[in-house]
Amino acid sequence: MNIEKDYFRGKNAVVTGAASGVGLALIEELLDFGADKAVLADFNRESLERHTARLSQSYPGQVAGILCDVTQQSQVTELIEQAAEFSSGRIDLLINNAGAGFGGCFVTPSTETEIAKILPVSTDQDWQTAFALNFYGALYGCRAVIPIMQAQGGGQIINVISGIAFTPMAYQTRYAATKAALNGLTLALRYEFWDDQIKISSATPGTTATAIWGDLGVPDTAQTALQSAQRILAGAAKNDRVILGDDGDVSGADQCFSTDPRIMAGLDDYLLNVARQRRGGKMAV
Ligand SMILES: NC(=O)c1ccc[n+]([C@@H]2O[C@H](COP(=O)([O-])OP(=O)(O)OC[C@H]3O[C@@H](n4cnc5c(N)ncnc54)[C@H](O)[C@@H]3O)[C@@H](O)[C@H]2O)c1
Repeated sequence: MNIEKDYFRGKNAVVTGAASGVGLALIEELLDFGADKAVLADFNRESLERHTARLSQSYPGQVAGILCDVTQQSQVTELIEQAAEFSSGRIDLLINNAGAGFGGCFVTPSTETEIAKILPVSTDQDWQTAFALNFYGALYGCRAVIPIMQAQGGGQIINVISGIAFTPMAYQTRYAATKAALNGLTLALRYEFWDDQIKISSATPGTTATAIWGDLGVPDTAQTALQSAQRILAGAAKNDRVILGDDGDVSGADQCFSTDPRIMAGLDDYLLNVARQRRGGKMAV
């Protein structure tokens, strides 16, 4: 992987969902690449304190952990204020990474299926919870940090989406919809703030071995969180419009809006096969 490591030297970064998985690996790589200040934000107090203390030993004075539930706009506003204070008023990079996978049946399945035993029907409240985390959490982050970046003459925001934004899968309707919405928000903001020298991109981590997979188990094809973070940061340094975290996501993005009949038929076959396997109780990807 060809990473422009010096790009991050001396920068001040904030990463949400940084107490685990991809977010934690992003923080560790940013520090390794010479970032000046790194702020970990997460709502898991125990993990946040543990990793902040561990990293502070290696990088004294450069690391802060800020407890923040990104679904609460007031807490995100406060996070950005406190992060700016820690970083002498300047935030160069915000990575809105906090998110979750959200599986569920859309309505009750018509026949008795295994999936109904694993995944309940998503309620309105479930839909609101998913949008609060995967969409509004990042929206609040952008809203809070953009004025700071405008005032300082530029900056960079990466919103972490998922390959599911391009390859929507059955029984993950909330995940597909929230990440596609976040992608739309991100790419519109990219051009709204381009002339303010604020670089804004979406990034998919690729299939990555993290806690997000929970009881479903990590797929055999998963890469490490470090590999994912390196790929995201390589794309950030190049200001890629959509950073694609693994080769599967590259082909997913290439194919999603293809009008080639063979590609469309192939995608239908693939996604129908995933749906049928899932209906049978196997969370295939
Ligand atoms: N791992 C994958 O295969 C994969 C694939 C595609 C997209 N993603 C995306 O990558 C991002 C990181 O996920 P991960 O795989 O590292 O998962 P993870 O579960 O290891 O990490 C998610 C982190 O977000 C935090 N978090 C959850 N809700 C929060 C909230 N309300 N406020 C603040 N923090 C909160 C958790 O405490 C956790 O530390 C997510 O946006 C996820 O959707 C992951």
